[in-house]
Amino acid sequence: MKKRLLSGIQPSGIIHIGNYFGAIKQFVDMQDSYDSYIFIADFHAITTIQNRDILSKNILDVAMDYLACGLDPNKACLFKQSDLPEVTELAWYFNCLTSMPYLERATAYKDAGMKAKDVNVGLFDYPILMAADILIQDADVVPVGSDQQQHVEYARDTAIKFNNAFGETFKLPESLIIKEVAIVPGIDGRKMSKSYGNTIPLFGTDEEIRKAVMGIVTDSKAPSDIKDPNECNIFSIHKLFLTGNALESLKKRYTDGGLGYKESKDMLYEEIISFIKPMREKREYYQNNIDEVKKILRDGGAKAKLNIKNKMELIRNKVGVNL
Ligand code: ADP
Ligand code: TRP
Repeated sequence: MKKRLLSGIQPSGIIHIGNYFGAIKQFVDMQDSYDSYIFIADFHAITTIQNRDILSKNILDVAMDYLACGLDPNKACLFKQSDLPEVTELAWYFNCLTSMPYLERATAYKDAGMKAKDVNVGLFDYPILMAADILIQDADVVPVGSDQQQHVEYARDTAIKFNNAFGETFKLPESLIIKEVAIVPGIDGRKMSKSYGNTIPLFGTDEEIRKAVMGIVTDSKAPSDIKDPNECNIFSIHKLFLTGNALESLKKRYTDGGLGYKESKDMLYEEIISFIKPMREKREYYQNNIDEVKKILRDGGAKAKLNIKNKMELIRNKVGVNL
């Protein structure tokens, strides 16, 4: 029996290379060895997007991104969260076992300085809905970037709380974080994130990608100067696209001196463009066959729903609402 894997991405903006290396690539690499459930967290996205057209467009964009990056609907179940409204029911049961101070300790909440802002309840409660996504499917592993690790811990805690209150119901999921790409740096050296505006879009136009690459922040060393590759934001992105000899010889050019940042950026641009070429072609195919994309999501949703039917009944029995 394969272990069950579950993960998702919010359709809250344009996918960047941090999302690809930190999340989607891992889903693709693991789809053969795990019983995979990969979804689009559209309920989560409503915490920040309250516009029908934008949300609907973003949902389809993420579905096409998934497919273009190599997720195969014959191997992984691809679905959207809102096709399982049961997760919001489960999140409610969890809410009733969760204290406010516990949620206030969530780093995502603290980092966003949300206490000071007029934060909506959905955003505050985000980790609990995520726990419901994970626990309802009996997931064994949850591959995510390291920024999401705490949320998987919250899911484990929540499983324990429910099991203690109502009897053994949920298994404890593990997060799965790939070390080398744990955090993809953005063009300013901070974590690449759409909230920092420091991204390189995965499916941007040539021009958008060039602009982002040329905007990578460097120090003011001259081309002839010797440079430490480990201190260079361009090099840390090269590392995602180059391996073996190619990476070693680039490293040597840094430490020998004579490689200017402009040249390094030009090389990186070429690496990115040739890397995404086949994915772009696939994405164009789906863009022209959008009904196929919708059907993949519908079929995936039906499968995911069937999966949780018995579990949901069990939960309602345990809670006491089934008479
Ligand atoms: P963003 O920070 O741009 O809003 P999300 O929070 O929507 O990205 O992240 C979606 C997925 O991509 C998550 O699994 C997250 O951990 C991963 N991810 C996002 N940014 C990075 C990054 N810079 N490095 C590695 N993984 C990332
Ligand atoms: N919180 C995740 C993110 O922003 C998205 C998400 C929602 C998720 N539910 C999940 C990820 C369940 C893994 C498992 O990226």
